[in-house]
Amino acid sequence: MPRATGVAGELTGALPLVSLAALLCGCALARRSPAPEPGRESPLNSAQASRFADSVLQLMTLDEKLGQLTQSPGRGTQTGPRVPEGGEQQIRAGRVGSFLGIFGAEYTRELQRIATQESRLKIPLLFANDVIHGFRTIYPVPIAEAASFDPERVTLSARGAAVEAAAHGLHWTFAPMVDIARDPRWGRIVEGAGEDPYLGAIMAAAQVRGFQGGDGAIGLGEPDVLMATAKHFAAYGGAEGGRDYNSVELTERTLWETYLPPYEAAVEAGAATVMASFNDIGGIPAHSSDWLLDDVLRQRWGFKGLVVSDWGGIGEMVPHGVAATTGAAGILALRAGVDVDMSDGIYADSLAAAVRAGRLEKAFVDSSVHRLLRLKYALGLFQDPYRFNDVARERRFTLAPEHLRAARIAAREGIVLLKNANKTLPLRKDVRTIAVIGPLADDARSALGSWAADGRSDEAVSVLAGIRASVGQSGRVIYARGAPVDTADTTGFALARSAASRADAIILVLGERENMSAEAASRASIELPGAQLALARSVIRAARASAGGSRKPIIAVLMNGRALAIPELVAETPAVLETWFLGTQHGGAVVDVLFGDYNPSGKLPVTFPRATGQIPIYYNHRNTGRPPDSANSYTSKYLDLPWTPLFPFGYGLSYTTFAYSNLRLSPRSIGGRDSLEVTVDVRNAGDRAGDEVVQVYVRDDVASVAQPVRALKAFRRVTLGPGEMQSVAFKLGPDSFALYDRQMRRVVEPGTFTIYVGTDSNAQLNSRFEFTGDTLVLAPPTPRFH
Ligand code: NOJ
Repeated sequence: MPRATGVAGELTGALPLVSLAALLCGCALARRSPAPEPGRESPLNSAQASRFADSVLQLMTLDEKLGQLTQSPGRGTQTGPRVPEGGEQQIRAGRVGSFLGIFGAEYTRELQRIATQESRLKIPLLFANDVIHGFRTIYPVPIAEAASFDPERVTLSARGAAVEAAAHGLHWTFAPMVDIARDPRWGRIVEGAGEDPYLGAIMAAAQVRGFQGGDGAIGLGEPDVLMATAKHFAAYGGAEGGRDYNSVELTERTLWETYLPPYEAAVEAGAATVMASFNDIGGIPAHSSDWLLDDVLRQRWGFKGLVVSDWGGIGEMVPHGVAATTGAAGILALRAGVDVDMSDGIYADSLAAAVRAGRLEKAFVDSSVHRLLRLKYALGLFQDPYRFNDVARERRFTLAPEHLRAARIAAREGIVLLKNANKTLPLRKDVRTIAVIGPLADDARSALGSWAADGRSDEAVSVLAGIRASVGQSGRVIYARGAPVDTADTTGFALARSAASRADAIILVLGERENMSAEAASRASIELPGAQLALARSVIRAARASAGGSRKPIIAVLMNGRALAIPELVAETPAVLETWFLGTQHGGAVVDVLFGDYNPSGKLPVTFPRATGQIPIYYNHRNTGRPPDSANSYTSKYLDLPWTPLFPFGYGLSYTTFAYSNLRLSPRSIGGRDSLEVTVDVRNAGDRAGDEVVQVYVRDDVASVAQPVRALKAFRRVTLGPGEMQSVAFKLGPDSFALYDRQMRRVVEPGTFTIYVGTDSNAQLNSRFEFTGDTLVLAPPTPRFH
């Protein structure tokens, strides 16, 4: 039964004049309808929630307000995460509004009880956590999910994660990470959707929808929904040199064209919260940027939710050099629009004095608290603070079979087949002896990937375990670690060679450990680390020598969190699978692909360079005045490397092949807000069923500002049986042809456009149409950067 908490129940008499009616009316309505139906006003924008927040605000002391804006980190203990020393007292004193990293239906219920029964105002707490790609059931890391090019699947993964996490008492996840990354040295590339703004925007919205149970935050208030956080705002992925936390130097244009679209898409999809990023852009740390947090986020995009700082991000404005003291940093952050102070404790410690001394206007505090209370109200916590604390539900949804099944499907879809010479794959199921070799083969922890929340290695399936389970008798599998991931130690080579000689098929599991990407895990060189290439070479030689005249299948299964520069490995190994970190079901999904129970269909969401020195390398670059030309030295290229990547964006093979033909555009000329219909025939030219991701790229041939050589504007995953043909149609509206002109207006300019359609970003099939008439203005100039 819902129980009214203090503010709504016991304390209402304290403010009879303004708030009582609003409170009662708010609660009664909310009880009848905790989640608005589709089409009704977004809970982020609810007048009722706003009135409620007004009422509560009037009851609060300044210290209680700052307490609400304080997010305190939990600490890990033997019995699970717990509040820090003195945490319960903080709750009683109203000095904390939310916790980070604390979960468990029972424990959070107890903390909620303290907050709603023992604190003066009895305001319920929020529990937040990094539920990035699953909670206990771990789905593929975000870059692998992006490789599926399957937004519906991505929504389902986020949905599953929310259901499981909310059953553990959580209300709020710090996901999705929607930072575009064009530099794979940056470790956090694993947490996002890669290099492309369109794919990034689609995946951002897909995740928000999944976490929040629908579009426009309409699901908020249901007890199986998490508030999403679009992070890290903004352009964190633009870190110079790919070094984490580094400064970002971007033109305003690149910011709008490339980096901002996924955040905007997340906001449009209804993300309840946004996290500021650690970096500065051109000298302005995001935590102090009222341009980003107000002009862009709230004014231009109409964001109505809450902004949270990143861990320590407020205090870091001191080393950034824009604040002399943490107190001054707190003032900068709150004024800029950072509502909640994650882990710094600066708001609670120093802002009351700043307000009393007249150095900070109280109105800033009130606005932030108002936003926070609105969300607590929208979640239904004032009506029933325990709605996320149901032990039976927690049991029911932890590693629920339907979630594990969904995680396996998602994992399969994230796998990208990079090479398959002589149809090495799929392996015959009757292959007698398989050698599984490599430092990651038995690494279930890495299979989970970074940011694995409450995921546990002993619940994850490594590649080795997956193969063993699949072939049944363990005698058929010979395992040799061969080498460590990242040292020069070659002492294991001999055993690995012997395994390869004795086996009929060899699977090399190579790459990076999970902790070699993600936060604070940038690499200066993205080649295969340690002695792994040497191991692969040595094993391949042994396998060939032992095979006599025949060929043993040799497959490299890569596990890694970024694009790798692996030209030699790819040249020397007959088949290569990119499997990233696929979560709890990693091994099973890899086995599905190895033995052909699933035909791989993933596509690269990032360009794979030939060498670190090619970075930044991305498909949607501008043409330059001297595009590379092998016959002309004075064009844009290197002396010592081709200019082309190892694998382009959007690339991925299948066990079948797909033939594209008959591209038609209709009409051939459009104007105003007309749409263009793009249709292409796609035929499965092979002998097994498969999924193909049909990709549509647009090039604006001549514009007032030089445009990318092509940019992804649509894609669709289709399933085709052997020999089957499908006409795949896309409708492209004005936004697909828009650019930021010299005044930074979003416009479509008259002229011709080339449409390319195909299997990856190198698609050659193309056709042209014309946009006629006047320039179409879609949006006024962007707010001026300051
Ligand atoms: C720092 C990370 O940058 C951010 O992504 C994460 O959500 C917070 N820590 C909380 O763990």
